[in-house]
Amino acid sequence: PLTTPREMFARAYAEGFAVGGFNVNNMEIIQGIMEAGKAEKSPLILQVSAGARRYAGQPYIIKLMEAALEETDLPVCLHLDHGQDFAICKEVIDGGFSSVMIDGSHLPFEENIALTKQVADYAHDRGVWVEAELGQLAGVEDDVDVEHSVYTDPDQAAEFVQRSGCDSLAIAIGTSHGAYKFTGEAKLDFDRLEKIARLLPGFPIVLHGASSVPQEFVNMANQYGAQIGGAKGVPEELLRRAAASAVCKINIDTDIRLAMTATIRKYLTENPSHFDPRQYLTPARTAVRDMVAHKIRNVLGSSNKI
Ligand code: G3H
Ligand code: 13P
Ligand code: NA
Ligand code: ZN
Repeated sequence: PLTTPREMFARAYAEGFAVGGFNVNNMEIIQGIMEAGKAEKSPLILQVSAGARRYAGQPYIIKLMEAALEETDLPVCLHLDHGQDFAICKEVIDGGFSSVMIDGSHLPFEENIALTKQVADYAHDRGVWVEAELGQLAGVEDDVDVEHSVYTDPDQAAEFVQRSGCDSLAIAIGTSHGAYKFTGEAKLDFDRLEKIARLLPGFPIVLHGASSVPQEFVNMANQYGAQIGGAKGVPEELLRRAAASAVCKINIDTDIRLAMTATIRKYLTENPSHFDPRQYLTPARTAVRDMVAHKIRNVLGSSNKI
C-alpha cells in the first residue's frame, strides 16, 4: 500500500539500515524497482523530481503507481523530490503523494524555515510527510547549478528541525548530484553527520547525491559509444557506513540512468537490425531491477524489513 516513510524510518533508525529513495519517470523504471523491492521484501520510496513530473505528467505517475501497488502488499512511498515552492508541494499532496521534499536549501536560513513550515502545516493536516534540506550539495539539479557545496552546520540543523516542523532532513556532508562527484579521493564528513545525529536523537537524516556510479555501467556505456569519462560516485563502503547511522533514506537517480543507458547502448549495438522499443527496454528494465536489488541487499540493508 501507499504509505508515508514514518514506519520505514522508525525501523531503519532502530535497526541501522536505510531505505532507497529511487527516482522514477516512466513505466519501465517503476517496474524494475518494484520487481527488486518484491524480490528483496524491502520497503521502497519512489520519488519524482519536478522535471520527471513534467516529463511524464502527474496523472501518469499517479496511475502507474496505482497499477504498481495493485499487485503487491509492499509498503511503498510516493515522494516529491526537490520541491522548489509551496505550489508544487500542494499540487502533489492534492494529487495523492504521501511525502514531499520542500527544498529551501538555496534560501537564507530564516526563509528556508518559513517556507518549510508553510509546507509542513499544509502537509501534516493531510497526513503527508515532509523532508527539508539544510546545506547545499555541489552539482546540477533541474534549475539550480551549485558550484561549491556548503556543508550543513550541526547547531543550525537542530534549530531548523525544531522551528520548521519538518519530519526528515537532507544534509550536505560531501555527496553531490550527478555522475561526477569527486575529482580526487571520495570522502564524506562522518564527524559532521555524527554531530548532527547527536543533536537530533531519533530524527531521520536523508542523503542526496548518493549514487555509486558503478564502473561496470560507465565502462559498458563507453564501450558502446558513450563519452562519460571520469565519472565517479560514492563508494559502496561509505554508503554502508551511512546506512548504519541516523541516515534513513539514501537517494539514487544517476545509477538508474546509467544502468538503463549502458544496457540500451549495448543492446542496440549488438542488434543493429532491431527497432522495436520493447526489445531494448526489456533488458534495460532487467538491469534496473538487478542494480536496485543489489543496492537493497548489499548497500542499504533494507532486505526483509517489511
Ligand atoms: O536531484 C536530482 C535528481 O537526480 C533529479 O534530477 O531534476 O534531472 O530529474 P532531474
Ligand atoms: P544521484 O545523482 O547521486 O543519483 O542523486 C540523486 C538525488 O539526490 C535525487 O534527489
Ligand atoms: Na540508518
Ligand atoms: Zn537530490
